[in-house]
Amino acid sequence: MVNVGIIGFGTVGTGTARILIENGDVIEEKTGIRLNLLGIVDRDIERDRGIDIPHGVLTREVSDVLDNPDIDVVVELIGGIQPAKDFILRALNNGKHVVTANKALLATEGGEIFETAARNSVSVGFEAAVAGGIPIIKVLKEGLVANKVLSIYGIINGTSNFILTKMTESGMDFSDALSEAQVLGYAEANPALDIEGVDTAHKLAIMASLSFGIPLSYDKIHIEGITTLTPQDIEFAGELGYKIKLLAIAKSVNGEVELRVHPTMIPESYLISKVDGVLNAVYVVGDAVGETLYYGRGAGDMPTGSAVVSDIVDIARDGTVSSGMEYIGKRRDLKVKAMGDIESMYYFRFTALDRPGVLSRISGILGDYNISIAAVIQKGRQVGAAVPLVVLTHRARERDVRAALQEIDRLDVVADRTAFIRVEGEEAP
Ligand code: NDP
Ligand code: HSE
Repeated sequence: MVNVGIIGFGTVGTGTARILIENGDVIEEKTGIRLNLLGIVDRDIERDRGIDIPHGVLTREVSDVLDNPDIDVVVELIGGIQPAKDFILRALNNGKHVVTANKALLATEGGEIFETAARNSVSVGFEAAVAGGIPIIKVLKEGLVANKVLSIYGIINGTSNFILTKMTESGMDFSDALSEAQVLGYAEANPALDIEGVDTAHKLAIMASLSFGIPLSYDKIHIEGITTLTPQDIEFAGELGYKIKLLAIAKSVNGEVELRVHPTMIPESYLISKVDGVLNAVYVVGDAVGETLYYGRGAGDMPTGSAVVSDIVDIARDGTVSSGMEYIGKRRDLKVKAMGDIESMYYFRFTALDRPGVLSRISGILGDYNISIAAVIQKGRQVGAAVPLVVLTHRARERDVRAALQEIDRLDVVADRTAFIRVEGEEAP
């Protein structure tokens, strides 16, 4: 029997408790291990969460779990940096294994947590920290261990994907879609983390560290969220045969790594474009295995609880204790490529006056910066007034793109700041 204590009885805490209580028999049948929920800590222990919790399990006192000698595994599900970090360190120093879904904490302060676990010969499980119910941590640590990972593309924030899907499919307003995601329990306590791309970057830092053997590099990730996307760009992307997704991208290129999070246009025919709503997908290319794709619910009480419980089971049945340090170590300090040096295809939406000669002035500047045009579409006609002029490019260097747009936006025929979105897919001939 393994005794478990949960700190944080919110969305994920409730899902985890429900699985431990309702699926305890199934888990025991499969593993021979009885998981016993001995304590649940929360500030509010009166609210009905729809589960029958045995008498004496709920408590407001965190020390009832952290300092209880009978508890083997502490599950941290309060989120945020503090006091979550202190709780985790105290549990580890008390010789307890820890399971957490707290990607913000691991991405930014994971080094100290994994070192403390190693010092105390205990484990830190974090399957739930990336892509909710998809077992992507196990895939990267175990299933693909034989590979050099070449690239990862992920839709790994359920809230942003939910919002983009609602905006694309039903024209729903951004803030209404965000409110719905919050009600459904997908969003972080501070939803800015979701919509600004920060949560995606936390998860990318963890996946990149596991995949490339680099230290956790959250502070080196280029991050853009979905807040500046307009319904107009979503519509134009659709007309051009693309979907816009918030992608996490990690690539190993010539001994350097690219780490970036930003809205990306992906051809509608690609499988990952069809990943909608709260669903997540992670596409991993390994040198031996080739292309692989993992798909499932990226947020919510039960999918995330499923990942939490899988870590508890792993800890319970694995004789050899893993701190995680053997994966998230400092094996290779690869340089993270500067964003200006990356290459991509681009979508530009110029707000240009509808008059002769405008396109040639814009294309002249693009040409000066080695940016070659793949397609041009003028949306509508309004002689003398500003209209959207959409351009798709061939591959170009980001530094050149930014310099060209700065120059173009100073033209007297350009009425507003140019919108740009990076484009993935096959390059047009
Ligand atoms: P919730 O806000 O729903 O739950 C957190 C719970 O912890 C709340 O009941 C909160 O109480 C309580 N709490 C906060 N601080 C303390 C404290 N100091 N002592 C006791 N109780 C406390 O969050 P989630 O369940 O959504 O998220 C938990 C963690 O899981 C986060 O790290 C999140 O990033 C991660 N995660 C969430 C997913 C999701 O789908 N929601 C998916 C994957 C990971 P109060 O409400 O009073 O603050
Ligand atoms: N807020 C996160 C999301 C929760 O929307 O993906 C899952 O990590």
